[in-house]
Formats: sequence, structure tokens, C-alpha cells
Amino acid sequence: MTKVLRGVAMSVLEYNELTMDHFQNPRNVGVVKNGNGYGKIGEPGCGDICEITLCVENDIIEDIKFRVYGCAGAIATSSVVTEMAKGKSIDYALQLTDDDVVEYLGGLPEGKKHCSLLAVQALHQAIYDYLLNKRLEKEGKVNTRSHFDRLADETLQEILQRAKQNK
Ligand code: FES
Repeated sequence: MTKVLRGVAMSVLEYNELTMDHFQNPRNVGVVKNGNGYGKIGEPGCGDICEITLCVENDIIEDIKFRVYGCAGAIATSSVVTEMAKGKSIDYALQLTDDDVVEYLGGLPEGKKHCSLLAVQALHQAIYDYLLNKRLEKEGKVNTRSHFDRLADETLQEILQRAKQNK
């Protein structure tokens, strides 16, 4: 076995059975069609990215899905976060922490504990996105979800443009 392969095998072996199950059979993978909340978070240290879409009705997360570009820990913890949040209120989901995810899994290897933060942050961002859209609709500032998405995109482009000019 090459040094690199031995390193991969070692790190996989450090995960417990439940984590390996969520890594190999991740739950709720994909994108919620006609969702009303979107969050995407990247981890600058390793470059991993987690994206969460959800559908909230009457403040309950009726559906939630994730997509991850990342390590086994990021995949397993994202799967768990969707399981923990599905069918729950947004208030409950907003209280979820990375420690809750690690505890649910019965622990993660020391160097992988930060992976659980990705999906938790993406979940919270998706709820923020949902609540902001709801508020702006209520105040008559946006008419539809696509109107909100367009405004959010334009705002992001403005921010990126400003950041470029300030370099
Ligand atoms: S190593 Fe980056 S999220 Fe796991």
C-alpha cells in the first residue's frame, strides 16, 4: 500500500460505525425542488463546501436536502444535520450546534470535529434566507421568491464589485 493510500485507510478507520454509515449511505442528498430557504458555507481551511436547501411551512422544516464537496466527515455530519432538522421547527433547528452533531454521532476523530460546523452553519444560513424573504414579502418589498433571489443575487454582485474596487 502506498503512503497516501495508507493515510486514507487510516483516516477512514478512525470513524465509528454510525459515522461510516452516514458517509456511505448519506440521507437527504440533493436539492429541494421549490424550496424557500438556501444556505451555502465553505470552510476556508480545507476548501470543503456544504449547500443546504429547505422547504419551510408554518415554521416547520418539511423538507431539507444537502450537497457537499468535501471529506467523509463533512458528508456524514451534513447527512446527520438534515436528519436532525427534518420535521422540526425552525427555532429548534436554530439551536442546533456542531457539538450536538458530534454527540449524535457518538464522537468524531479529533481532527475532524470542525467538519460538523459546515452543515450547521449552512442550515442556519438557509433559515436566515427563508426568514429574510418572508419579512421582505410581508413588508411588500418583494413579490415572489424569484424576485427575492434576483435581489439577493444583485446585492451579492454589488458586494463583490465593491470588494474588487477596494483591493
Ligand atoms: S476536512 Fe474540511 S470539512 Fe472535513
